[in-house]
Amino acid sequence: MSPAIASAARRAPTLDSAGPDPNDPLAFILYEHHRHRVMCNALDELAAKERFDAPAVTRLADFIRNDLSQHIADEEEVFFPMLHNRCEAEDEIDAALKRLNEEHEADRDLSLDVRVFLLRAATENAPMSAFPGAPEALRQFAQSQRRHMMLENAVLLPLARRRLTDQDLSVLGARLAGRRRP
Ligand SMILES: [Fe+2]
Repeated sequence: MSPAIASAARRAPTLDSAGPDPNDPLAFILYEHHRHRVMCNALDELAAKERFDAPAVTRLADFIRNDLSQHIADEEEVFFPMLHNRCEAEDEIDAALKRLNEEHEADRDLSLDVRVFLLRAATENAPMSAFPGAPEALRQFAQSQRRHMMLENAVLLPLARRRLTDQDLSVLGARLAGRRRP
């Protein structure tokens, strides 16, 4: 792990924290994955809560709608195609990208279910347990996100470190820079 990635990994992110400098876009992506892990833990906590937690519901709905959707779009539109172009046959990147794209698709459906449950909870001021299937949907989405990130962190980021050019990294950085929090 590079020093930049290691230092990003050591920080303790929250759903509201700003990321590292997108001049190191791979550290930025890793940092976002840490924030997604915070989201997964918050989803599990909310699924288990017996009372309505308005701030958690709002924060999670906002994060899934904005940050997570944007992250997936950046990966699908810029990061994955870059890896596809730069990696060597021996990297077997296409199989990994195919799986990750399929997981993004499945997670889009899961996240839609979760967002509907969050909206219902907010509208009715009710805990997740009030809606049949809601706690399970939140947990399933969290679990699927964790699996997905594990593959991206273990396979994609190390390959990107090796294969992407300085020019690629600055294009990726420019794309991610638009999303830095002030
Ligand atoms: Fe990702």
